[in-house]
Amino acid sequence: MQTTKATDLGDPDLYTTLDRHTRWRELAAEDAMVWSEPGSSPAGFWSVFSHRACAAVLAPSASFTSEYGMMIGFDRDHPDTSGGRMMVVSEQERHRRLRGLIGPLLSRGAARKLAERVRAEVHGVLDRVLDGEVCDVAAAIGPRVPAAVVCDILGVPAADQGMLIDLTNHAFGGEDELYDGMTPRQAHTEILVYFDELIAERREHPAEDLVGTLVRDGLETDDVLLNCDNVLIGGNETTRHAITGAVHALATVPGLLAELKDGSADTGTVVEEVLRWTSPAMHVLRVATGETTVNGRHLPPGTPVVAWLPAANRDPAEFDEPDAFRPGRKPNRHITFGHGVHHCLGSALARIELSVVLAALAERVSRVELVAEPAWLRAIVVQGYRELPVRFTGR
Ligand code: HEM
Repeated sequence: MQTTKATDLGDPDLYTTLDRHTRWRELAAEDAMVWSEPGSSPAGFWSVFSHRACAAVLAPSASFTSEYGMMIGFDRDHPDTSGGRMMVVSEQERHRRLRGLIGPLLSRGAARKLAERVRAEVHGVLDRVLDGEVCDVAAAIGPRVPAAVVCDILGVPAADQGMLIDLTNHAFGGEDELYDGMTPRQAHTEILVYFDELIAERREHPAEDLVGTLVRDGLETDDVLLNCDNVLIGGNETTRHAITGAVHALATVPGLLAELKDGSADTGTVVEEVLRWTSPAMHVLRVATGETTVNGRHLPPGTPVVAWLPAANRDPAEFDEPDAFRPGRKPNRHITFGHGVHHCLGSALARIELSVVLAALAERVSRVELVAEPAWLRAIVVQGYRELPVRFTGR
């Protein structure tokens, strides 16, 4: 284990090129523990990178909490105001109650029912772009599929879905471009205003969707809103980049598309490798609840520690040739969905979305050609694609 002092690891400029993987791999291989001075986070924070250390910090038995927030910028003295109310930043009884309420709506069974919706979305895009213009997957496919799925789960009526999907695409696009005169932040606020109206509607007319379920359980309007927002963000912000990354893999990994077409590659195994290789959730933060030890270092209560998930997912101690996309990689113990009690509640849904996207492309496309190298987001919460221009050739 090494302890190094470094620049502020919460600086998004560090992550806009693929050099980030080189740095992360080195830090994971050293099992490094790095202190970032106050800057992006008011009190500073420790970081861990190895698969072992990240899993240890997130383990159910670890002396850490999410209740002060789960992203860089929050700590015990600057807590997330959603703490104890929104599922991902709640613990114990409250967390169990919310997981019990929301879990069934995101379960594998629910996900299977949504598969046809995902298929229709992908085919709709392919109808427009196959054998045609250059397609920016990061805008045309990646965001559409999860936005449509989340609309269905929340209970957005069909007539409003087009508008909501456009707003969602814009809100989580990561760039400060304008859409309909709105910045991404304003688009997000617009969505919440819409949900507020939907909640009022569900109080009048009960339904079995997510909004209806939370309203029926007696949650205050603000808490329904916060937890709808949790599913909205969780469902959109990360999955869009995993889907875009799946197309990136089809364009760059020799033989992958052919193997999916002839069935020699198992779609489920490829999906796991897409998840490891893309690892869209970049970090999760925890705050120590008591005296604890991480990588041999004693930490007092209140210490913030960040686990860098893409670093753990390319830790050479856990994965052979970690930078290579290996379609048949097994075992594949990636922690793309986190680890422990907050393990992603939408993981079944994300897996189904990815497998349906891969199957639809394998069915209709014979070649995916990368037109230019991808452009990456300037962000610290997600590592993701700003642009991925490709050309699809039909079979
Ligand atoms: C939690 C990643 C897709 C909803 C998480 C966490 C991670 C994650 C790392 C744990 C956060 C923590 O420990 O603090 C991802 C990735 C996805 C994905 C990489 C896609 C590839 C989805 C989808 C949904 C969703 C599709 C819902 C539609 C949630 C929710 C939580 C969560 C509600 C909170 C769970 C809890 O606190 O118990 N996700 N997620 N996610 N995710 Fe996902």
